Amino acid sequence: MLAPSLDEGRIDYDAISTQYDGFRGISAELVDVIVTEARLSQGARILDVGCGTGTIDVMLEKRLNAAIIGVDRSLGMLTAARAKLSEGRWIHADSAALPLRSDTFDCVLMLYVLHHMADFSVAIREAHRLLRSGALVILTASHEQIESSFASRFFPSYAALDKARFPKVGAIAAAMKEAGFTDVARRSVTVAKVTFDEHYLEKVRNKHVSTYLLISEDEFRHGFERMCSYVAEHAGEPPLNHEGTLIVGRKKEFH
Ligand SMILES: C[S@@+](CC[C@H](N)C(=O)[O-])C[C@H]1O[C@@H](n2cnc3c(N)ncnc32)[C@H](O)[C@@H]1O
Repeated sequence: MLAPSLDEGRIDYDAISTQYDGFRGISAELVDVIVTEARLSQGARILDVGCGTGTIDVMLEKRLNAAIIGVDRSLGMLTAARAKLSEGRWIHADSAALPLRSDTFDCVLMLYVLHHMADFSVAIREAHRLLRSGALVILTASHEQIESSFASRFFPSYAALDKARFPKVGAIAAAMKEAGFTDVARRSVTVAKVTFDEHYLEKVRNKHVSTYLLISEDEFRHGFERMCSYVAEHAGEPPLNHEGTLIVGRKKEFH
């Protein structure tokens, strides 16, 4: 039995798990950046915390023959991950207390998960304990990226809701240094190229981003109507880059 989640009763990833992969993907370009920044090599031992449906894990297993362990609070998300990658080991646990041996991994990933945690610094300390020597890679949205997001143009409370739950990049970097990580660096990355068309509207209609689950039905309806009008008026325009922030720190092996 896991301790209650920060999102309890508001965001149910078991329910989301059946449609998650239809709406959320990770580009090959982003995987390239992560492989380079984390200095991953063939056979790397990778722990993915908040692995969800294991999207990046499948890609890393194929590309590097990596040994993957994925951890998630949601059994539904883990079931989807297991169906895609039976070689992986999938563990139902909370990031705050991971039932894994210290000094084991070459890389720990935390992609779009810190904003769900009650105290993200605990998970960062766990990552430091579990790394043998290697990188912690965090993908998140900076507050500037949240403010300039496409959705925040249509939903008045969108940016405030996300800024309240996504920790500031500076606070994440500080927690990493505090936990013992060195060479902590951050950079913007293109997570996806997004075309604002019918397919995109279908994703929003299905609330593909958890923020929509936190907005009142009234605000959602009005915002979605305005977004539909905008998309109709701007049909055929080129895709826009959806930007995220990658923060990488290293645990060094001392001899
Ligand atoms: C937005 S999804 C991201 C999934 C995946 N990392 C990706 O990028 O596609 C967030 C995931 O984190 C999981 N999660 C949230 N809080 C967690 C926690 N404290 N410990 C472990 N997993 C958690 C959720 O169940 C969900 O699967």
